[in-house]
Amino acid sequence: MKTVILGVTGSIAACKAADLASRLTKAGHDVHVVMTTNATGFVTPLTFQTLSRNAVTTGIFDEKESWHPGHIALADRADLLLIAPATANVIAKLANGIADDALTSIALASPAPLLIAPAMNGKMWTHPATRENVARLKSRGAKFLGPAEGLLACGYEGLGRLWDVEDIAREAGRLLEKSSRKKSAAAKAPKKNQGKL
Ligand SMILES: Cc1cc2nc3c(=O)[nH]c(=O)nc-3n(C[C@H](O)[C@H](O)[C@H](O)COP(=O)(O)O)c2cc1C
Repeated sequence: MKTVILGVTGSIAACKAADLASRLTKAGHDVHVVMTTNATGFVTPLTFQTLSRNAVTTGIFDEKESWHPGHIALADRADLLLIAPATANVIAKLANGIADDALTSIALASPAPLLIAPAMNGKMWTHPATRENVARLKSRGAKFLGPAEGLLACGYEGLGRLWDVEDIAREAGRLLEKSSRKKSAAAKAPKKNQGKL
């Protein structure tokens, strides 16, 4: 079973992340949803808690279980950090190493691969600031899915729609499989100097 952190941010497309959480859970993954405060204005944490069958993190100070900060424990054990939908704001924060909430703190602390599915107004997506932020994240190995073209919730037509949820779930599954193949190959490979005194 793979541990997936699903980051949900304050986009109108946050409602589509409920379907994504459900698909990932049904695929057998251990899904932990981390919402920004603004995301909770679009969908309730209870929706994600029910669909993911796990408690939802909405704040960095809601430690309930142990002395070990929950967001660090989650960051450590994640096999994938998937942010869908990702706002222009969260992309900017990730690109600049800002960690002022649970999601961005986890992102900064986690060695897990980062998969980002943006959703925003087309002008936000094509703004030079966003272009620079995306390029920066890509240069650090983050993978982007979309955005897609179409009619946007803001009324404009263009690039900015969240990628199809089914395709995001499929791509997440593919990445998780790839990372487990890499791990098992590394475990099988003979270690250098093994057996030497
Ligand atoms: C109705 C509504 C829809 C929004 N949709 C988006 C969106 O799709 N993408 C985006 O980048 N920002 C969107 N915003 C603006 C973000 O909510 C805002 O930038 C916020 O600061 C993002 O916070 P977060 O990144 O911490 O979740 C929307 C705001 C409103 C009121």
